[in-house]
Amino acid sequence: MAGETDLERLLESLHPIVRDGDYVYALWPHGRPLEGDVEAAVREAEGLTVVLRRDEADRLGLSYDFVAAWITLQIHSALEAVGLTAAVSAALTHAGISCNVLAGFHHDHLLVPTGDADRAMGVLQLLSRGIVLRTEQPGDRPAILALTAQAFSVSPVTGEPVQGTPIEVALLRGLFDSDEYIPELSIVAEIGGDIVGHVISTRGWVGDEPFLGLGPIGVAPTLQRRGIGSALLQETATRAAAAGEPGIALLGSPVYYPRFGYVPAVSLGVQPPEARWGDHFQVLALPGWHDGVRGTFRFATPFERL
Ligand SMILES: CC(C)(COP(=O)(O)OP(=O)(O)OC[C@H]1O[C@@H](n2cnc3c(N)ncnc32)[C@H](O)[C@@H]1OP(=O)(O)O)[C@@H](O)C(=O)NCCC(=O)NCCS
Repeated sequence: MAGETDLERLLESLHPIVRDGDYVYALWPHGRPLEGDVEAAVREAEGLTVVLRRDEADRLGLSYDFVAAWITLQIHSALEAVGLTAAVSAALTHAGISCNVLAGFHHDHLLVPTGDADRAMGVLQLLSRGIVLRTEQPGDRPAILALTAQAFSVSPVTGEPVQGTPIEVALLRGLFDSDEYIPELSIVAEIGGDIVGHVISTRGWVGDEPFLGLGPIGVAPTLQRRGIGSALLQETATRAAAAGEPGIALLGSPVYYPRFGYVPAVSLGVQPPEARWGDHFQVLALPGWHDGVRGTFRFATPFERL
């Protein structure tokens, strides 16, 4: 059977699955005849590298450092398929996940650090829908501002069309230029090289404790309700947790955000900057949450000009 070579169709049908168990790379002892259940082997001038299950490596007395989850892309890709490996490794790199690729005759296989397996599967599932999440680059700003103008051309508060440029555009410009800007928390969603979604979180405070304030978030109107906003929110939470942040605050729909773990901020002892915000002011507690997080929240300075 001829393998699939068209990149878009390949990506659509990646069908990644995680094999059972942990896998390791080990150097096979020089001069020892090959034995045991070896999954892959590469002979080099310096020696023989083997990839095998961790428990098998232990049984054979092999030493190893890198412990990986093994993800198989079930699509039957032709070996000469142009760009599949590049697209997969670029998407994983954007998510900060290292990855070793093994190409078999039928399928490609990815070995990623065990702790990153779930996140890698999330990245691959988005990629199979053509979506890549990555940190904003300075050259993206015109496209992000245009996207934000489109997303907020109808007011999320009143549901009415907005006259002129929505205020979120000026807010975003202010945030980009502010001291409270955090580069890795300005995240874009891209489809086929076009920016179709963006979310930003900037430095805020609960009392004197550093915290994060999320927003604006916007998705291209024609591509809403396809999970792009959800993916941006989840990526933000993952990055913020990895950075040791205690939590994220936002002003938004009490229907949409609770599905990502946001709760009314007052229930956690965090007061909104304006009392009338009520349950629309929400907080996501991250693993870095601590007892010192109590008091009134303050967004980054550009929010004060609204
Ligand atoms: C809010 C926004 C970022 C969500 O992005 P998205 O890619 O459309 O969201 P997802 O596809 O991940 O999630 C869609 C779900 O969220 C719900 N949802 C989206 N926005 C909502 C809102 N403001 N209030 C309530 N529910 C909302 C949808 O009804 C849908 O629910 P369903 O899955 O039960 O059908 C996007 O709709 C947007 O850009 N809106 C205009 C700008 C805006 O309002 N930004 C937020 C200001 S707080």
